[in-house]
Amino acid sequence: MKKFFCGNWKMNKTKTEAVSYFRSFKRLAAGSNCDIVVAVPFTLLETARNACKNTNIKIAAQNMHSEQKGAFTGEISPCMIKEFADYVIIGHSERRILFKETDELLNKKAIAASGSKLKVIFCIGETLEEKKRDKTFEILKTQILNGLNGCRLKEIIVAYEPVWAIGTGKIPTAKEIESTHTYIKDIIKKNFGTAVRVIYGGSVNENNAKEILMIKNVDGCLPGGASLDAKKFSKIISSA
Ligand code: PGA
Repeated sequence: MKKFFCGNWKMNKTKTEAVSYFRSFKRLAAGSNCDIVVAVPFTLLETARNACKNTNIKIAAQNMHSEQKGAFTGEISPCMIKEFADYVIIGHSERRILFKETDELLNKKAIAASGSKLKVIFCIGETLEEKKRDKTFEILKTQILNGLNGCRLKEIIVAYEPVWAIGTGKIPTAKEIESTHTYIKDIIKKNFGTAVRVIYGGSVNENNAKEILMIKNVDGCLPGGASLDAKKFSKIISSA
């Protein structure tokens, strides 16, 4: 199975910056035999799509509404995204925590995305407090069962992103990552009968990627901060 990489730009970059990024990233990523995705802000979807035409780079949105259209001021729907992108990130912890998105809402979004033929990168992960209370597996199980119920799982990549590892420079031990990824795959297989790819996110950079990618059941990475730099992101990809 090919390794899967999704760079998450979050709320970063103007159009000029994006154009210059893709000019070098295209060159750096050419020839890679990995799946490569860049998740850009809505305002850059068209720029990114145009810049990556006829390349091995796919584009993702970072969020979307669960309805196709209607009176939802400020929102963007699955069919609008589908015009520019192949993927959408759903359930990033910043959406869950800062924008109060629940498992129930995320489930609606994931179902709507696959209905629009968008592939989903579905994020799950425990907070530090939950980890300290030894609740990691319980939290992941709830996020998976409630979030992915009724989804077309063949189109889904699960991203395990411990909330406490995002943007902090802290990462779980290799043993912790392996047991968590194995648990996630087992739960999905047992409950939905499907094998999915599980990628790791949280403080991935060009120096630690190789070690993370060697861990059993890690099918790729989701770097945030490090993906803002074309050279760093391509180094992460080439460590596969
Ligand atoms: P980070 O972000 O790589 O900057 O920790 C990862 C993410 O939030 O997806």
